[in-house]
Order: sequence, then C-alpha cells, then structure tokens
Amino acid sequence: MPMPLAELPVRRLTLRDLAACADLSEERGWPRTERKWGLLLTAGTGYGIDDPDAPEGKRLIATCTLTSYGTGAPHDPSYAVLGMLLVAARHERQGLGRRMAQHALAAAGSAQVSLYATASGEGLYRRLGFTAAGRADTFRGHFRPSGPPPTIATRPVTPDDLPAIIRLDTETFGHDRTAVIARLPALADRFRVAEGQDGLLGYAAAWPDRDADTVGPLVARDTETAKALLASLATGAGHPLRLDVDTQHTELGDWLSTQGLTRTASSTTMSYGAPVLPGDPHRRFAPLATATG
Ligand SMILES: CC(C)(COP(=O)(O)OP(=O)(O)OC[C@H]1O[C@@H](n2cnc3c(N)ncnc32)[C@H](O)[C@@H]1OP(=O)(O)O)[C@@H](O)C(=O)NCCC(=O)NCCS
Repeated sequence: MPMPLAELPVRRLTLRDLAACADLSEERGWPRTERKWGLLLTAGTGYGIDDPDAPEGKRLIATCTLTSYGTGAPHDPSYAVLGMLLVAARHERQGLGRRMAQHALAAAGSAQVSLYATASGEGLYRRLGFTAAGRADTFRGHFRPSGPPPTIATRPVTPDDLPAIIRLDTETFGHDRTAVIARLPALADRFRVAEGQDGLLGYAAAWPDRDADTVGPLVARDTETAKALLASLATGAGHPLRLDVDTQHTELGDWLSTQGLTRTASSTTMSYGAPVLPGDPHRRFAPLATATG
C-alpha cells in the first residue's frame, strides 16, 4: 500500500542528490544546471521529498532551496531567497508544492523571503502571503553583436577581485552574500568583472548547460557596463545565452533584442515579509537563480 503523499517526510538534500535534482529540473523543462544546484546546496539548504515506492533514480519528487543571508544566518537570517521549487509532473496538484514552500518559509523564520515565480507557481505563493515586487523578462538566443561595441573594459575575475566584488554585491543586493560569491569562481563557467578608473563597475557569471548558457548574477553600475559584461561573456560561447532581466532595465532589454536575443517568457519577483526588495535595484540587472533555475 503506497504511503499517502501528505505523509512523506521533507528531508535535507545533500550533494549526493545532485543528479536527482538535475533530473527533476530536466523533467520539468528547466536546464539541468547541476553546478548551480551544487552552489545552492552548499551555500544554502536544499529540501526534498522522496517517494519510497518509485523506482531507483526517480524517488526525488519535490525540491526547493533556501539561501539565507544576513546577520544571524542560518538560525536568524534577515533575508532569504527561495528557489528550485519543483514537483514531479506525476505528483502535481496534490499539495506538495505548497508543503515545500511552507517548509522553506518556516525554516526562514522571521526573515524577509524573495523569489522569482513562474506563472504556474505565482498563485501558490500569493496564497502563502507573497506579494509581487517586480517583474523580469527571460531573454534567450545566440548573441550576434550589432552596432557599436561596448567601450567599457572587462576581464576574467582574479582572486584579488573578491573583496571588491563582495562590497559591490552587498550594496546591490542589500545583504552580504559572501557564501555565494566566494563559490562563483569555482562553480560558474565564466566569471568576469568590468573595470573603470575608479575601480570595479560590475561583474557577471555564466553557467553552462546542454542547450544554453545562463547569465547571472549580472550586477553593473549602469546599462553600458551591463552590455560590456554580456558581450564579453558571449564571446566564444557556442551556446545561446539565457538571462532574466528586471523589466525596469528597458534599455538593456531593447539592446538584447538587437543582439539576437528574444523575450521568451516573463516571471514575477515576489516578496514575503516586506513589500520591496532590499539593496539597489538600479544595479541589479539579472539574478543568480531565475524562475526556472
Ligand atoms: C509550480 C509547482 C511547484 C506546483 O506544485 P504542486 O505540487 O502542483 O503545487 P500544489 O499542489 O501545492 O498547488 C498547485 C495547485 O493544485 C491545487 N491543489 C492542491 N492540492 C490539491 C488537491 N488535493 N486536489 C486538487 N487540487 C489541488 C492547489 O490549490 C493549486 O491550485 P492552482 O494551480 O489553481 O493555484 C509545480 O507545478 C511545478 O513543479 N511546476 C514546474 C516548475 C515551476 O514552475 N516551479 C515554480 C517555480 S516559481
């Protein structure tokens, strides 16, 4: 007699679950992004539900991650990001998604929690008390440079850049993300900075996957800097690029449309516990983890 879904326990995910997490992403039409899963499971916490009656390799049926930032993290974080909420298609609409999100909210305690929601997740989050704090457009396509090339210099990150990157990231994101940023050089495929006479102007990372390289985070002083970083990450990339750009950055969106990328979807930035996201939205161009991985 199979155990009712509502009684299956939520457990902590570990790096041993990486392949199963990536399989679930793929089953739901998301990129496998094994390296990003690795980052989220090491810098943050992953939760999962197993179906003991499923065949070996198909047991992980629901996931989510919670990455906590702030003073007292992880026991008293002031800010947390919820991501990778996935339920196996064969178990949809039976309450597993809600349970996972509730579990993560309980783990976040009194922290403000944010996320990027797909259309299929938005209703669930609204019923849990999340409100919309913005929107992001997904752009995708082979980068084909056209028009004048960006003039701002970029280069690969070196270990000496990390303190300045963390300073810029903390101002932009509103909380110290050292645990995530310090892992980017090892886990991201490409990680570049833009530099001006006064120092660091921005940084961006790219994540390879089977059919596209996802860009994020993309943090930049202004649109020109964001363009330079994107163009440099795209150079030599055999794959299409994919990134979620905050809709307030209309100039970058319009430029991407002239460089071979098209808007393929949009998502809602949502927040729980406070109506607006902390930090500086003008410098926040693309998030680390999008609504679809
Ligand atoms: C979005 C997602 C996580 C939802 O998971 P889920 O397990 O189906 O979620 P729930 O069952 O808790 O709720 C989904 C719906 O089923 C309904 N439902 C829950 N239990 C039900 C039951 N026993 N009978 C009928 N309907 C039920 C809910 O009311 C909800 O209704 P709505 O779609 O009208 O809002 C899942 O569809 C998924 O993995 N999608 C692909 C990835 C994705 O988009 N993830 C979200 C990223 S933000």
